[in-house]
Amino acid sequence: MRSKITVVGAGFVGSTLVQRIAERDYADVVMFDIVPNMPQGKALDMLQAGPVLGYDTLITGTNDYADTADSDIVVITSGFPRKPGMSRDDLLKKNQEIVSQVTEQIVKYSPNTILIVVTNPLDAMAQVALKVSGFPRERVLGMAGVLDTSRFRTFIAQELNASVRDVQAYVLGGHGDTMVPLSRLCTVAGVPITELLPAERIEQIVQRTRDGGAEIVKLLGNGSAYFAPSASALQMIDSIILDKKMIMPCAIYLQGEYGLKNLFVGVPAKLGAKGLEQVIEVELQEHERTQLQKSADAVKELVEVLGI
Ligand code: APR
Repeated sequence: MRSKITVVGAGFVGSTLVQRIAERDYADVVMFDIVPNMPQGKALDMLQAGPVLGYDTLITGTNDYADTADSDIVVITSGFPRKPGMSRDDLLKKNQEIVSQVTEQIVKYSPNTILIVVTNPLDAMAQVALKVSGFPRERVLGMAGVLDTSRFRTFIAQELNASVRDVQAYVLGGHGDTMVPLSRLCTVAGVPITELLPAERIEQIVQRTRDGGAEIVKLLGNGSAYFAPSASALQMIDSIILDKKMIMPCAIYLQGEYGLKNLFVGVPAKLGAKGLEQVIEVELQEHERTQLQKSADAVKELVEVLGI
């Protein structure tokens, strides 16, 4: 039997993600939204792309949580996206309510699923899902680091006229203005970028990465990024569904790693069939540790506002 993946929220991120999963052809997909008929319409449209693209993925659109039963993975993308001038944190309360409701329903029908949270503000929403689900931390993951890292890699590749495939990087910390791109560990075909670019140019690229989401929000005028966010969520799904044990930065509920506790923060994580299989602790330099702590403090502030 094929695996089953549910995507909650059939908006820009959700529906693009469903399309990407469908093209993988390794799991059936349920797309849930509260808007009547809309997910059904989008699902039918995607289903009809199957013969052309050659996938047999069964795609079901629904407004009924019963259809999501026994999902192996559930991705939560439901919520309001950022508007221009709005920070991720402004979304906080609105999206807390949505993520709580969704998690409650999902858990009722799929008690053994692995949750991947995409809704912003990411780290805080992952914490909401963890608390409401009562799941162990291995089964509640937040998608942010892959996206932030991918943005960083894009800019580095552009700068050096290199292939994105040759650029390796890590962005740690919360998904916000305090994220910590580890330029020291960024390499192009094994060569550290600190040997390829002057420090101030790297700092500019780091800053552009921090503002990566806002830059797109401003350009779009209405709505936020969804092509790269959905691709990033797909990479996490790939590693879980195919049990690939890939290591990628994800928002994880830390239990003492990196000196942080009871908080979702982006760190390198090994993902496999069980969800989180290992938190990878890289040795940080003093200033990096300070930055990570600052980022964690920003997440903590949000969580305190939520009262969880
Ligand atoms: N249950 C299910 N779906 C809901 C609910 C709910 N309670 N509330 C809203 N939705 C749905 C909306 O109907 C909409 O279709 O969530 C979808 C959100 O889609 P978009 O508005 O297109 O937002 P999108 O760009 O996909 O972003 C979703 O991901 O990257 C983050 O910051 C982004 O938090 C935002 C989320």
